[in-house]
Amino acid sequence: MSDTADAQEDAQGTLANLMRENRRYDPPKDMAANANVTADAYDEAAADRLAFWEKQAQRLDWDTPWETALEWESPYSKWFVGGKLNASVNCVDRHVAAGNGEKIAYHWVGEPDGDTRDITYAELKDMVCQAANAFTELGVQKGDRIAIYMPMIPETVVTMLACARLGAPHTVVFGGFSADALKSRTLDCDAHVVVTADGGYRRGAASALKPAVDEAVTGTDVRTVLVVRRTGQDVEWTDGRDVWWHDVVDRQSTDHTAEAHDAEHPLYVMYTSGTTAKPKGILHTTGGYLTQVAYTHWAVFDLKADTDIFWTAADIGWVTGHSYIVYGPLANGATSVLYEGTPDTPHKGRWWDIVEKYKVTILYTAPTTIRTFMKWGEAVPEGHDLSSLRLIGSVGEPINPEAYIWYRHFIGGDRCPVVDTWWQTETGGMMISPLPGVTAGKPGAAMKPLPGISCEVVDEAGNAVPDGGGGYLVLTEPWPGMLRGIWGDDERFRETYWSRYPGVYFAGDGAKKDEDGDLWLLGRVDDVMNVSGHRISTTEVESALVSHQKVAEAAVVGATDPTTGQGIVAFVIPRGDGEGTSGEEFAQELRNHVAKEIGPIAKPRQILVVAELPKTRSGKIMRRLLRDVAENRQLGDVTTLQDSSVMDLISAKLPSAAREE
Ligand code: WT7
Repeated sequence: MSDTADAQEDAQGTLANLMRENRRYDPPKDMAANANVTADAYDEAAADRLAFWEKQAQRLDWDTPWETALEWESPYSKWFVGGKLNASVNCVDRHVAAGNGEKIAYHWVGEPDGDTRDITYAELKDMVCQAANAFTELGVQKGDRIAIYMPMIPETVVTMLACARLGAPHTVVFGGFSADALKSRTLDCDAHVVVTADGGYRRGAASALKPAVDEAVTGTDVRTVLVVRRTGQDVEWTDGRDVWWHDVVDRQSTDHTAEAHDAEHPLYVMYTSGTTAKPKGILHTTGGYLTQVAYTHWAVFDLKADTDIFWTAADIGWVTGHSYIVYGPLANGATSVLYEGTPDTPHKGRWWDIVEKYKVTILYTAPTTIRTFMKWGEAVPEGHDLSSLRLIGSVGEPINPEAYIWYRHFIGGDRCPVVDTWWQTETGGMMISPLPGVTAGKPGAAMKPLPGISCEVVDEAGNAVPDGGGGYLVLTEPWPGMLRGIWGDDERFRETYWSRYPGVYFAGDGAKKDEDGDLWLLGRVDDVMNVSGHRISTTEVESALVSHQKVAEAAVVGATDPTTGQGIVAFVIPRGDGEGTSGEEFAQELRNHVAKEIGPIAKPRQILVVAELPKTRSGKIMRRLLRDVAENRQLGDVTTLQDSSVMDLISAKLPSAAREE
């Protein structure tokens, strides 16, 4: 065996490289000819990475220029040191000042039919200034954290930008999360102000938000709850704490002089799942983050700000919404679509109505949604004129080649390149992606690190695997949008990302390099599930299950799911004599409990009541074996089990397992 074959075998032991995919799609000729970015960008960045990023930082307006591009004391980075800027001014005011005030920033589309609003940059600037003045009146000061729990309405963007303007970091909590989830996040970052709405529209009905806030802020230091009236539904009111947006914001002046903040001033905290129960507050700062999201939004989407209509169909409550609905597109002065509701309200062609009406040119969404559209059938998009689209993107999880081909064909009309963009809450912006005017796309591959980004695929020992091998993805050089830490938990920051391979960032994803050296992402290697493109920790769901009075122990795994990527399968051991713990009713009770503790997204697809869980001698649950059961596979090696007979008992349970459709 040759050395390479040897190394390859080792690497494949780390993670198998099984799939072969030979389809290739060259960039369309006219796109290649007019592309924002050409292949030289890779060489330019490789020749001098910091100079490359300094050039990209020039996309922004700086009140004080930086002195040093990067100060790096692993794992702590400071970018554009000494520079000062205001993110809100960069996203809004400067476009108005440049004479683009009448340009549309957002075509906002509410879920109820006909409920739309076009917002120009000038209007957005006025609204942001009013909100900033209102926050100041409410006592908000630079550095205070503000929690945002809202539907997808213009005020959500306005609130984020007003926070950025004042230097008050925001933490947006996804509106689908429960009161408990909102409470733990509010407490963790010690927010004293929460901005919310009475409710929002979802699936054709008004869905309340305020009651969850009322529950969440009880017993915390939250002193102000600012409430947007969106649905008009009844709300409970706590005088002295609750204030209506229309009472306090609308009467403010539309002038507000923004202070320039340090490049490293905190911009926001975004909570994401880790392998332990407590979500991690990922901290992003101002100058580097804004540079990376502006550059990647321009480069990867080949953005022509004057003509494109850009649509990230994601929720602002996730990092995708922060970077590619709010900060990236606005920094670039783009026109975006902002849609409040679900894809099937009032009918399954809603998105395609929107694409057709606004002549959307660039669409960015997640594989889970694409697979849902596949399930609904091509007849739905086929009834629409989608010819305005010129580029389509994917994010959140590996896109299977079949979904890629479907997306390219039925949505992209075989003319739009698909950009499969790999990144994380922690990376702030895109890291690995094709460039639409440069790269010949391969269905399922994220291809290459973007210019200025450095990564590698390594084996257990930290050695780079050869082409054709698989292993773990690491990021080998600091990048401008990188997380600056975990809010209030420095040790966890070092431990989670920087301890496995000293000096490099461990992403927690498996990856392979194909024979051409192109990158394929293979999903999480830790105990984090990926449900509909959202990371959910097994531990969090287990903790939620165990907090139910009838549950003694629980183990949760992600099992392959044709629509959501992974579905949650839970194994629970009941307490005491187990009375009332069999059947669908109990399973439903537990699902509802998890929905209450975390949110509906974390509801187990399947719940199995078992007598024992497979554990190692040291008591660690062997989720690998439970995954085998959940995916109906032959069991893997059981020799390290404390008691190997438990697996027989568990497997015997499967056919009767309760399953939610
Ligand atoms: C995890 C990060 C990035 C915003 C949405 C998710 C998976 C993300 C891809 C992709 C394969 C992907 C990874 C990553 N992921 N994009 N294009 N191909 N996997 O943000 O919740 O922080 O999740 O999503 O597993 O680690 P997140």
